[in-house]
Amino acid sequence: MTRRSSKIFARSQKFHVGGVSHNIRFFEPYPFVVKSAKGKNLIDVDNNKFVDYWMGHWSLILGHAPSSVKNRVQKQVNNGWMFGTVNNPTVELSSTIQKTVPAAEKIRYVTSGTEATMYAVRLARSVTGKKIVAKIDGGWHGYTSELLKTVNWPFSKSESSGLVNEENIISIPYNDVEKSIEILNSVKEDLACTIIEPVLGGGGCIPATQEYLKAVEEFVHKNNSLFLLDEIVTGFRFRYGCLYPTMKLDPDIVTLGKIVGGGFPIGVLCGKEEIMEYANTGKYAKEERSYIGGGTFSANPISMTSGHATLTELKKKSIYSKISKLGNYARRELKKTFGDKVIITGKDSLFMTHFVKDGVTQINNASDAAKCDVELLHRYHTELIAKDGIFFLPGKLGAISNAHSISDIKNLVNATQRFTEDFHH
Ligand SMILES: Cc1ncc(COP(=O)(O)O)c(C=O)c1O
Repeated sequence: MTRRSSKIFARSQKFHVGGVSHNIRFFEPYPFVVKSAKGKNLIDVDNNKFVDYWMGHWSLILGHAPSSVKNRVQKQVNNGWMFGTVNNPTVELSSTIQKTVPAAEKIRYVTSGTEATMYAVRLARSVTGKKIVAKIDGGWHGYTSELLKTVNWPFSKSESSGLVNEENIISIPYNDVEKSIEILNSVKEDLACTIIEPVLGGGGCIPATQEYLKAVEEFVHKNNSLFLLDEIVTGFRFRYGCLYPTMKLDPDIVTLGKIVGGGFPIGVLCGKEEIMEYANTGKYAKEERSYIGGGTFSANPISMTSGHATLTELKKKSIYSKISKLGNYARRELKKTFGDKVIITGKDSLFMTHFVKDGVTQINNASDAAKCDVELLHRYHTELIAKDGIFFLPGKLGAISNAHSISDIKNLVNATQRFTEDFHH
């Protein structure tokens, strides 16, 4: 089925470490090579068609190449695609974001989520004059040297060589108020900020409880530290706007990415004005300012136009009730199919299957998720690719887009049924 992919991937291995540029894009035996994408489908170089649940690292909520975005981007391309100057599409996107994200009193753009979280942490340290950053066990905020800690189970070893001052990053268990507060309390004098995803994405598609986020926020604010929310996955995923206002939270800095770029590179740093002003080079001396705001391609007119077109479409069409219904249906039917063997986590249009083992009965944090049978999950996803033309990046959560329909989810459930039957034989 994948003869041409195999050849091209072999060539790719000659040029690229491990054949890839993003580590998670490799999967066994070798990844298929994509030629084009439209709507819910990826087409590979051997002309196999896959119903895609990876959806560009979960960034494509409207599906692949929707015409509403394509038309506006094409128009922009006709007018040039890289100015390196101030441009109006940026102003339009910010005006749209500010109307719906209360914390976005001031905004800065970068070209990846990684950069956005890197700056967010620097800003928090500048504003508070403190050093320590608390993140979540299993929290993923990109590959910054700072936040590359406690990403993978068992969270105790360094994630990489080449990292320095790792003692300045500490880690707390998701959804465990008592333990988290105890750990935060032990460093409160020097705590610059906490950084948390309201739904743990890479760590297992696990929503935080409102009680947990509220408790951390309250502690942080009481101790003159900042509360950072990483909404790079969750921003505009469940509703038109961020998730946090539904939980009555008051973050100081919010990072966005993925969906708000409409499939073009983006990272967004949103924050309260008095905090963001530390980045104002005209206002603060060198020793006080937070020197953020670089990037050759930051606020490039293509990402800005594509992001604005995507948010405009999301506002107009209100697709959220449709895709969350599909997500609820997927979780319910997959659970029925697998029975006690699995726990399906997620929220609305995001869902993930965990094959339980070692007595795991609920999944509230990344440790619970890591104790599940990750190998079996890879096998399930690989079989869906090979036998059913259904693509989840093996081991990762699935994202439903506006291009998916109930029949796609039914096909997924049927394919899963077959997988469980084959498995029993
Ligand atoms: C919650 C979260 N933060 C940050 C990032 C990093 O974003 P990027 O891959 O655009 O650098 C990701 C990427 O998956 C993410 O899921």
